[in-house]
Amino acid sequence: MKASKVLAGSVAVCLAAVLALNIGPVAQALANGTSAQATKSKSEYEPSVGQEGKDVVWVPTAQALVNKMLDMAKLTSSDILYDLGSGDGRTVITAAKRGSTAYGIEYNPDMVALSKRNAEKEGVTDKATFTHGDIFVTDFSKANVLTMFLLPELNVRLRPTILKMKPGTRVVTNSFSMGDWDADQTESVNEDCRSYCTAHLWIVPANVQGTWKLPQGDLTLDQKYQIVSGNLKAAGNSAKVDGKLTGEQIAFKVGNTQYSGKVSGDTIEGVARTGEKEEKFQAMRAK
Ligand SMILES: C[S@@+](CC[C@H](N)C(=O)[O-])C[C@H]1O[C@@H](n2cnc3c(N)ncnc32)[C@H](O)[C@@H]1O
Repeated sequence: MKASKVLAGSVAVCLAAVLALNIGPVAQALANGTSAQATKSKSEYEPSVGQEGKDVVWVPTAQALVNKMLDMAKLTSSDILYDLGSGDGRTVITAAKRGSTAYGIEYNPDMVALSKRNAEKEGVTDKATFTHGDIFVTDFSKANVLTMFLLPELNVRLRPTILKMKPGTRVVTNSFSMGDWDADQTESVNEDCRSYCTAHLWIVPANVQGTWKLPQGDLTLDQKYQIVSGNLKAAGNSAKVDGKLTGEQIAFKVGNTQYSGKVSGDTIEGVARTGEKEEKFQAMRAK
């Protein structure tokens, strides 16, 4: 058995154990190694909290946190949302009810069938689509909003793919981090949620790594996810640069000048403010 599967298995057991503290007999049975899987026919299929999943067990996100996650993503009807490991479909269905086009990718075919039935009951089959697949294989590149309730190591495995997505793509997780990529926002719900009640939001940053030509000199930017540092070399002097990306929006400070602009590929256009003085700037990436 692969080490990753062993790790996933042991974390799954831990998750079930944690759940045992929070949700009583069903999870207690799971923690004891007793299968609580319902033995109903497929049409009556009822999932059990803590049941095995390919890389992580199924634990549903509390509806109050689903709502919070979609609020944090500022979901609109023109968004395309993907829930990776979509469980019983609740996040996708809630997004579809808010008018967005929403997709779920789920490895357990019974959960996919259940999600489709749930979407039908809620009258959102035109907006909510469920695919049986593996999140590490199925393409979700057309999403501009991602939701996930996976494990930290799974988030980190997905991170390189996420960072290649369109700048401005919003990623919201239930509870778990993304390694050394710090979240842009963290919120919790206190009502109608007993466990896993915190959500984290990341906004995929544009790529600004490299040297840029500004009228006043060479701007060298070093990027770690959304955090930008570097220097501006002008007239034989070097000044420190500190800044931040929010999707394709960049803001950085050099001395007492505050730059804010929009990154479009190899161009940054915006405004530089020094005290009361304000002027437009354009920077081109040096080839
Ligand atoms: C913790 S549950 C979250 C369910 C749902 N997103 C929610 O928040 O209510 C994780 C889900 O991921 C599914 N899953 C695990 N590994 C997967 C994989 N490699 N590809 C697709 N789904 C997977 C599990 O079957 C389970 O339904």
